[in-house]
Amino acid sequence: VPLKTNQWLDWEPNARLSALPTVATEVHRSGMRNFAAGVSIITSRHDGLSAGLTATAVCSVTADPPRLVVFVNKGVLATDLIIKSGALCANLLSGEQEDVARAFAGMVPGVRGEDRFGYGRWSELLTGAPVLENALVSFDCRVTNVYDESTHQAFLCEVLATQQRKEGDALIYLNGAFHAIPLCDKN
Ligand SMILES: Cc1cc2nc3c(=O)[nH]c(=O)nc-3n(C[C@H](O)[C@H](O)[C@H](O)COP(=O)(O)O)c2cc1C
Repeated sequence: VPLKTNQWLDWEPNARLSALPTVATEVHRSGMRNFAAGVSIITSRHDGLSAGLTATAVCSVTADPPRLVVFVNKGVLATDLIIKSGALCANLLSGEQEDVARAFAGMVPGVRGEDRFGYGRWSELLTGAPVLENALVSFDCRVTNVYDESTHQAFLCEVLATQQRKEGDALIYLNGAFHAIPLCDKN
């Protein structure tokens, strides 16, 4: 795939720091275990096929325009459908949806591919990507840019439709475990 660059080409990293080794992967992994993150199911649909994965690498970019970014491992089944359809839906899980998180993370033995959609109830909004009923919020998106990032791709997305719940707990992943945190008041 030819790469169109969106980087500053006239900027160089700090030369002294560039020569230093990074911390070991395990040290970094351990540090990231302290990172409390909301849990999403990223879904896509193309040519009658659906795929999805559990993801915490979902981040707000700008509110105006409404953009977010999602990092997906290149080996993941959903990657192909996201690229082909140019769309994805980020479904932010509520506290009672840990079973959905586990199924879409490949943590339920024997549940693979489209069988994952046997967990939760699914509909769609605008793009056709699967939308999870009772998610705290679902962001139905078009993909506007794909960035190559070593083992992953970053999908920059613009939100075309949103479905949001008024109350419930958020599902948070912290220190290798899922936790439900009350949403408090949301207006
Ligand atoms: C809490 C949690 C967060 C995850 N976050 C991501 C993520 O942000 N991006 C990603 O590519 N995989 C992430 N994964 C891993 C995928 O959910 C997992 O590899 C999934 O099975 C991939 O789908 P596949 O089996 O179709 O390849 C996460 C897993 C867990 C348990």
